[in-house]
Amino acid sequence: MMRAQGARLTSLAAFSAVFLASVAAPAQTTLGIGYALSPTSHYGIGAEAFAAAVEEGTDGRYVIEQFPNSALGGEREMIEGAQIGSVDVLITSTGPVGNFVPETLITDIPFLFRDYDHARAVLDGPIGQEILDEFPPHGLVALAWAENGFRNLTNSVHPVSAPADLSGLKLRTMQNDVHILAFETLGALPTPMAWPEVYTALQQGTVDGQENPIPVIVAASLAEVQPYLSLTRHVYSPSLFIMSKTVWDGLSEADQQAFVEAARAGATAMRDEVSRVEQSGVETLRGAGMEVIEEVDLAAFQEALASAYAQYAERFGEEPIARIRDYSP
Ligand code: PAF
Repeated sequence: MMRAQGARLTSLAAFSAVFLASVAAPAQTTLGIGYALSPTSHYGIGAEAFAAAVEEGTDGRYVIEQFPNSALGGEREMIEGAQIGSVDVLITSTGPVGNFVPETLITDIPFLFRDYDHARAVLDGPIGQEILDEFPPHGLVALAWAENGFRNLTNSVHPVSAPADLSGLKLRTMQNDVHILAFETLGALPTPMAWPEVYTALQQGTVDGQENPIPVIVAASLAEVQPYLSLTRHVYSPSLFIMSKTVWDGLSEADQQAFVEAARAGATAMRDEVSRVEQSGVETLRGAGMEVIEEVDLAAFQEALASAYAQYAERFGEEPIARIRDYSP
């Protein structure tokens, strides 16, 4: 994917001009960034801010080409691509990341984060950094935590306000076994599926519902195929800027630092957009015809997850979970 810019030689004069220019100006390298959503989504806005900061931070020696709307494949495929060096940079939710870097899975536990301030503080602090440090042995460099948002449930069958309403609902989940366990425990029928297949699966009724943050539900026009939205906020969904370690290893130390700072700038822009859409998105979706269920029995959802919490505690340890839950900066 990485490529250096070239010039076509048409004459000796052109050759001389290009030669002189290439002596004067350092080479420019184009790197691609892939992500699942549209350029106007929170991911697109984050990618744009990242691209601008990379160009500025490397004095134009690196430029970023954008591949939105899953043009480089689903999130799991993009991660595999980054491992083998066919994808340079990607933005992904943590959904499939735990299949590659299991240390991220603890962040996917339902109702672990209270609110956006709590989640952002944990990820920007020592706990978040310890998880980022786990990526390189897997052929990946996590440049920065970014954000997808608190996930809410949509479906095409009936309003959901309590765990019993999930019974027998066929729900698309991410390819994430922490999420799958939670939905199984709640009595739903979880169906893990890559994002590029989801709209059609909802449209054709292969699955009844899905869950995603408000900015995703808006950006992907899910109101067209899902009449019910329940404000379950059942799990915070972090995202990440990830770079192929092959690309990273080819950068100077100063350029590596410039990419990390650019990813932080991208993450800030993304979080600002998530906060903005959280303010207006529910009204937008109501206007697009969704019935919004605001009264959701969140305590009942947490109680119904008791046996899943016991399994998470066994898997991740009670202390690391409490460290996140009780974190204050
Ligand atoms: O549901 C998912 O797979 C993710 O939330 C999405 C929409 C691809 C954004 O990361």
